[in-house]
Amino acid sequence: MNRSLLNLTVDLLAAACLLAMVATGYILRFPLPPGTNRTHELWDLSRHQWGSIHGWAGMGLLAVLCLHVVLHWDWLFAMIHRRLTKSPAAPAARRRAAVVAIAVLMTAGGLFGWAAHVGVRELDTPLHPLRGPEEAAATPSDRYSDTAAVDFQRDVRPIFEASCIRCHGPSRQLAGFRADRREDFFVPGVAAPLILPGDPARSRLIAIVSGEVKDMKSAEAHLLAAPEIALLKTWIDAGADWQAEPRALQTRENP
Ligand code: HEC
Repeated sequence: MNRSLLNLTVDLLAAACLLAMVATGYILRFPLPPGTNRTHELWDLSRHQWGSIHGWAGMGLLAVLCLHVVLHWDWLFAMIHRRLTKSPAAPAARRRAAVVAIAVLMTAGGLFGWAAHVGVRELDTPLHPLRGPEEAAATPSDRYSDTAAVDFQRDVRPIFEASCIRCHGPSRQLAGFRADRREDFFVPGVAAPLILPGDPARSRLIAIVSGEVKDMKSAEAHLLAAPEIALLKTWIDAGADWQAEPRALQTRENP
C-alpha cells in the first residue's frame, strides 16, 4: 500500500470511529437515557451494551490517532524541533524523541489505570442498580417498611413488570416463561415450581433473582436489587398470595 493510500485509510478509520462515538453517545443521551438499562432496548441492545460499543469506539479512535502520529512522526518531530532549536534535526534525535514520547505516554496510561483502580470505593448505601438515585430512595420496601403487609398488586407485580416482562411477557416469552401469568410461577414444569409458598429459601425464583443460579443464559439479566429480593422473600414467606385483581377492586366487589 503506498503512503498516501495508507494515510487516507487511517483518516477514514478515524472518521468512522468518531462517527460511531457520536452516534452511540446520542443513543446513550436521548433514546436510552440513564436508568433505562434493564427496562428498554434499542435494536436488541441494552443501554449497557451501547455503552460498551461507545467505549470501544473511543479506544479504536485512540488507536487510529496513535497510528496517525506514528505515520507523521518525521514531520511532527521536524516541526517541533525547528520551533524549539531553530536548527534541523538529526535522525538519531528523532528516534530518541520517539522513545521518550512512548515512555511518557505509557507511564501516563499506567498511572491513569492505577489511579482509576485504587479510586473505586464501595458505597455505604448502594444505589438501586435498576433506576436513578431519586427513584432508588423509593424502592418498595422503603415505601412500605412494614413488609409484613406485602401486597401483590402494589409491591410484587411492579417488580415483575419493571424487570421481567420485556423478556417474559406478551410480546416475548423467552424460555417459554411468562412473568405475567400466575400458573407459570406455581405449576410445576420439568422442575419444581418457581415459588414454593411459605418457603422462600427453596423457591427457585429467589435463587434466580439473587444470582445463585449461574448456569442459565442471561443470568445477570435476572438480578434484582436487595430490597426487591427481600420483598419477594417476605411475600413468598407469607404464602405468595397472587391477587389477580387489584385489592381495591376486590373489596369493592365482595365487601
Ligand atoms: C434480558 C432478557 C431477560 C430478562 C429481563 C429476564 N429474563 Fe428470564 N430468561 C431469559 C433468558 C434468555 C432465559 C433462558 C435461559 C436459559 O435457557 O438458560 C430466561 C429464563 C428464565 C426462566 C426459566 C429458566 C429457569 O432456570 O427456570 C425463568 C423462570 C426466568 N427466566 C425468570 C425471570 C424473571 C423472574 C425475571 C425478572 C426478575 C426475568 N426472568 C428477567 C431472559 C431474561
